[in-house]
Amino acid sequence: LPEGLATYVHPAVLRAKWGTREAMSHKGSYGRCGIYVGQMQGASMLAAAGAARAGAGLVILVTGGPLSHAPAPDYVVRTDTRPACALTDCTSIVYGPGLGEAREDLVRHLVNEADDTSARVPCVIDADGLKGLQRDGGLLTIGDRFVLTPHPKECAALLGWTTAEVQARRLAAAKQLAAQTGAVVLLKGYRTIIATSNGSVRVNPTGNASLAVGGSGDVLAGVIGGLLAQGLEPFDAASLGAWLHGRAGELAGAALTPVSTTASDVVDYISRAIMTLF
Ligand code: APR
Ligand code: MG
Repeated sequence: LPEGLATYVHPAVLRAKWGTREAMSHKGSYGRCGIYVGQMQGASMLAAAGAARAGAGLVILVTGGPLSHAPAPDYVVRTDTRPACALTDCTSIVYGPGLGEAREDLVRHLVNEADDTSARVPCVIDADGLKGLQRDGGLLTIGDRFVLTPHPKECAALLGWTTAEVQARRLAAAKQLAAQTGAVVLLKGYRTIIATSNGSVRVNPTGNASLAVGGSGDVLAGVIGGLLAQGLEPFDAASLGAWLHGRAGELAGAALTPVSTTASDVVDYISRAIMTLF
């Protein structure tokens, strides 16, 4: 990488910031990650699994109506037609995986446009949730407690570029979106890029085509949400999340073949990715 332009995600540095599990700790020590359940509930379940495997003390599924299939018994389920209320005690929020329909009320809550009871916790915005950032032909300025996780096409839609333009200038695209929103931007794909609005850029060296399967991005959003719940800074949570998710994909692919690896397999290999970190 050109000097001064960007650095690779450095796992040892991030491992030190993550810390270890103290003997006297309890679930409250590791935060509560709230996952908003959208129309494609499988995506939300993959995000929930990612958050749990990344070590969130509690994963809370927030749903406006009944769930179409029973979630794993590891999660708390809150059914509330006003999801903002059900998210108030969460220490991080994941919004977007499987969303389907835009939730204008929830976006306002997340970005503090609604009222002063709004959330002020770190928040991952992924997939369809990213559409909520578009306002009056521009983008909302939301600040650095947010991590945006677009794939190249989603990034292009936000910037008004073509997908080919984003892929030809990936560093520039991630920096531009970070500058416009104030958020930490994680631009997905081969060599995922993580950029901040003050110009810091990291490139993630892990991950391969084993991850090229539906749902793997939902897992990543959950992993980052789980790390945010534990108190990692958004730039570090996004960087470590990308590194662990990529390593989990590599390990799953090595064991199961890149052809057969599913997003659920990536979830199952997060623990082994963590073992290679410590
Ligand atoms: N090398 C490294 N990493 C890869 C590769 C590759 N060749 N291919 C994919 N990945 C990784 C990406 O970096 C990212 O972390 O896999 C993940 C894919 O994420 P998404 O593109 O968001 O895919 P998906 O999880 O299926 O998204 C589900 O959300 O973004 C919307 O339109 C999308 O509706 C779909 C849904
Ligand atoms: Mg996606």
